[in-house]
Amino acid sequence: MTQTTLRQHLQSQKADTDLMILMEDIATACRMIADRVRHGAIAGVLGAAETENVQGETQKELDVISDEIFQEVVGANPTVAALVSEEVDEVNWRKEAPQAGDFIVYYDPLDGSSNLDVNLSVGTIFSIVRLENAIEPSAEAVQIKGTAQIAAGYAIYGPSTGLVITVGQGVDGFTHHPGSGEFLLTSGAMSIPPQTQEFAINASRYDLWDAPVRSYIDDCLRGADGPRGKKFNMRWCASMVADVHRILTRGGVFLYPKDSGNAGQGGKLRLMYEANPMGMLVEQARGASSTGTGRIMEVVPTGHHQRVSVILGSREEVAVIEGYYAK
Ligand code: AHG
Ligand code: MN
Ligand code: MN
Repeated sequence: MTQTTLRQHLQSQKADTDLMILMEDIATACRMIADRVRHGAIAGVLGAAETENVQGETQKELDVISDEIFQEVVGANPTVAALVSEEVDEVNWRKEAPQAGDFIVYYDPLDGSSNLDVNLSVGTIFSIVRLENAIEPSAEAVQIKGTAQIAAGYAIYGPSTGLVITVGQGVDGFTHHPGSGEFLLTSGAMSIPPQTQEFAINASRYDLWDAPVRSYIDDCLRGADGPRGKKFNMRWCASMVADVHRILTRGGVFLYPKDSGNAGQGGKLRLMYEANPMGMLVEQARGASSTGTGRIMEVVPTGHHQRVSVILGSREEVAVIEGYYAK
């Protein structure tokens, strides 16, 4: 049986050569990260490292290792002008004089890393912007709205290693085939059902939520006799990659809203390498992504580690939640 490889798929989508090579480099980095994740405790890379990342969180050693792999593999691509990583404070400029056509790659090298110690799914998230003009390297130069993304995706390190991508022509899912090393197309044209009866939220933050989120979840929990008139199921993986993967597969909504506990920072999740790429994927799969009051990809960035309120998934349910915010 012949199956479509990542490259064949990108060729069929008429992705230009530079983008195709960059996507293959990202896929290579993800395969290498997957290998480190798979070895888990044997390689002694779980548990907290001594360093703290720019968010003031203790870094797991695998966070650092994954970032280094990504830098080495993707940073060596001659069309990459800059890398913006969750784990690195400053923008990592790879070119002194970035030109039109060069790429900026934003990434979360290891998402859901609190799941490592308990051997649950983690992933890598990435977003790609292509420069339209030559620019001077500066922190402000990478603060580009999500609508400018030309591609986005994630790798998921679960029971199998998956790669889910968009180059602006829908969303396609690949599974790593250990024998050939290829990512093979296994879920073409992923599409999120518009309606759902499943939400994902960290309910331990109930006391911190603002009124719209509280009323929405309260109404869902009231089930068939409540205002929603149907029973809801709940899931929370504590790994955005895993939660979004489920939503792309069977629908649902994911919420990590701004609440009174994280409002000072603008939310928990990061705009440029978590919310924007997931927002693009979800919209390309006919879902919706919102801050509660507007489209995530329309948020004008003011910093490359900026945080944002995130609500995404089945489009009719996202609209319902926006309705609670509008009340
Ligand atoms: P990271 O591991 O890159 O810091 O991201 C973790 C994020 C996201 O993946 C997940 O949805 C959320 O944090 C979990 O937060 P809680 O621990 O508050 O549930
Ligand atoms: Mn993350
Ligand atoms: Mn991370």
